[in-house]
Amino acid sequence: MALNPDAIGKKIGPFYKDYTWKDAVLYALGVGAGFADLEYCYEKDLKVIPSFGIVTIYDFMADLATVSNVNLAGVLHGEQELIFHHPIPPEGTLITEGAITHYYDKGAEKGALVVAEFETSHSNGDKLFTSIVTIFSRLDGGFGGENAPAKELTFPVRDPDYIVEAIPPEDQPLVFRLSGDVFQLHVDRGFAEMAGFEKPIMHGLCTHGYACRALIDTIVPGKPQMVRRVACRFKKPLYPGTPIKTVIWKIVEGQAMWRITNAETGEVVIDNGVFEYGDIPRDQIRFDGRVAVITGAGGGLGRVYALELAKRGAKVVVNDLGGARDGTGEGSKVPADEVVDEIKALGGEGVANYENVATVAGGKRLVEAALDTFGTVDILINNAGILRDKSFLKMEPQNWQAVLDVHLHGAYNVSHPAFAVMKEKGYGRILMTTSAAGLYGNFGQTNYAAAKMGLVGLMNSLKLEGENYDIKVNAIAPVAASRLTEDILPPEFLQNLKPELVAPMAVYLVSKQCPVTGNIYNVGMGCVNRSAVLTGRGTVVGDSANIPTAEQILAQWAEISCLKEAKAYHNLTEQVGDLMAALTRPAEDADGSVTGFTTVAEVFDAMPGAFIANVSAGVDVVFQFKIDGDQGGEWYSSVKDASCDVSAGIHQKPSCTLKMIDSDFLDLMNGKLPAMQAYTSGKLKIEGDIMKSQLIEKLFKFN
Ligand code: NAI
Repeated sequence: MALNPDAIGKKIGPFYKDYTWKDAVLYALGVGAGFADLEYCYEKDLKVIPSFGIVTIYDFMADLATVSNVNLAGVLHGEQELIFHHPIPPEGTLITEGAITHYYDKGAEKGALVVAEFETSHSNGDKLFTSIVTIFSRLDGGFGGENAPAKELTFPVRDPDYIVEAIPPEDQPLVFRLSGDVFQLHVDRGFAEMAGFEKPIMHGLCTHGYACRALIDTIVPGKPQMVRRVACRFKKPLYPGTPIKTVIWKIVEGQAMWRITNAETGEVVIDNGVFEYGDIPRDQIRFDGRVAVITGAGGGLGRVYALELAKRGAKVVVNDLGGARDGTGEGSKVPADEVVDEIKALGGEGVANYENVATVAGGKRLVEAALDTFGTVDILINNAGILRDKSFLKMEPQNWQAVLDVHLHGAYNVSHPAFAVMKEKGYGRILMTTSAAGLYGNFGQTNYAAAKMGLVGLMNSLKLEGENYDIKVNAIAPVAASRLTEDILPPEFLQNLKPELVAPMAVYLVSKQCPVTGNIYNVGMGCVNRSAVLTGRGTVVGDSANIPTAEQILAQWAEISCLKEAKAYHNLTEQVGDLMAALTRPAEDADGSVTGFTTVAEVFDAMPGAFIANVSAGVDVVFQFKIDGDQGGEWYSSVKDASCDVSAGIHQKPSCTLKMIDSDFLDLMNGKLPAMQAYTSGKLKIEGDIMKSQLIEKLFKFN
């Protein structure tokens, strides 16, 4: 028996669990609630303890065991994380589905970890919570997979802010099991003895429920709806009747760390506890389970990105060489280490990395470090930067080169190996850091501006290569107070340039929710706007038969330079398509109005007259047109025996069906949109016999 590799990513569920207030109360009683916290036990104004969410895992676990082929003889619940999106209502149906996301191999002697993530929504349509379960399987190790990333949290060395004592009664497992976990180990003395225990033990999730109550009572009393995340690792078994302590440290507003100890022995029973709280925003942007690599994150903007992503659940690789502002110097581990310490103090996960991204080998090792530590790369922020400002004639080759090496080549060096990982997994977010100096120009920064605009070119093409793999590549042009700007901008101005004002946009652009790719945004001082390369409509000044003169260019300069109706193209093909269309653009009347069809119906009225009978010998074809939009409708054109019949409506047996929206159809018919471009851009959809559709151009000639 071995873990089934095909199970990873395979959908498990959905499972439906109907529940009433009685189930919520039964759970509350199972985790020690009573008259002291009646709001969990009385159907009048009942509040549901958020950890009630674990009742959904039992169905899921059974399927998870089957599909993964895990050896049930050695299975323990290793870790549990619940991330809340909406409070759990007192009754309804819970709908749960998910998948196994990872197997980790701790070695033949030590076992394996099976990690699964699933989402639960309510019959009212709300997404309630995400549950991440880690199963520790003692007997499945040694299959040659990667080891689990280390994720020990650093607890504060000071005294805790709260200690909540409790003694779960001897009979507690008998009540808790009624919420779903009916395993004999928690009820049957003979079975427990066989498993090496004196008597039945507490359910780990029951002790977890005690912790959840204690955390709410101390940190958000009376407001279970404010719980946003509860995560922990199960460490030691506990006998019912043993006194326990929930030990809690408030870290920052919104986050606490906790553990449960056996009050008799001092042993830690549940460890690595994180508790997050606050108003539950709808559509919260989270990064749980995601791995982010941020270059140059030892200070300035990168540090703030790292902290924000870690707070939102990402595992962060904090890269920084620790050199001087101009990139010189020995380098230092201190900046990256300090940011990782800050992340850990917030209860997050991070690892420091000191590679120089300006080298190919450095970029490769940085991505390898992410894989070794956290198993993957989902997010890359190319942020590392240096400055060597000089006016152009003083710009020696080494100052030109050094700046290009860090900014432009650095982004290539890290993106290249990271993109390979993202393409393989079918998901990725890459953020380039460009600059207003590159987008618009800045005196004394030719090297920097060239590098920063080079990053836009890199983004433009990489976005296309990532499109089929859910890899989005965007760019940010920040303005923020940092050591790069501290002596360039006046101090009173710097006060308004907190890097924290830039981070939300960076975080959004690397989130799953990010809807765009290939876009550039200016961000700073609380303002965000989009910047783009725009192309004007221009004018046709000649063709291969009429080569224009420089004087003709001069004569048409206003139209050539005009940016009215300018467009941002998504790729080169779109731009070339417009160029071709411009060459076939119909003549404009003196007053600027375009001659040609103005309504869709006119096209079909003109179609019989446009038919060229003498090229239609032997042709038997029906073209069905389905045109959307205000002017839309259905028409078909039937060509047979050298005659053409055009009618409104649907034909029973068309050879092919052409679908377009009215405006595109008019552009096509007026020569503004070449047919091939319409087809490749998806503006023209053809169903049925595509080859026959090509006869249209041969059979009809519109004037
Ligand atoms: P910063 O100097 O605080 O951060 C840059 C970090 O990159 C430093 O910690 C540095 O040690 C690190 N770094 C430099 N070379 C490296 C290398 N070869 N390998 C690894 N790490 C390296 O500056 P700031 O302002 O936070 O800059 C971040 C990014 O934002 C840079 O790309 C910068 O060009 C860009 N930017 C910043 C603006 C601002 O107003 N602060 C304006 C426009 C762009």
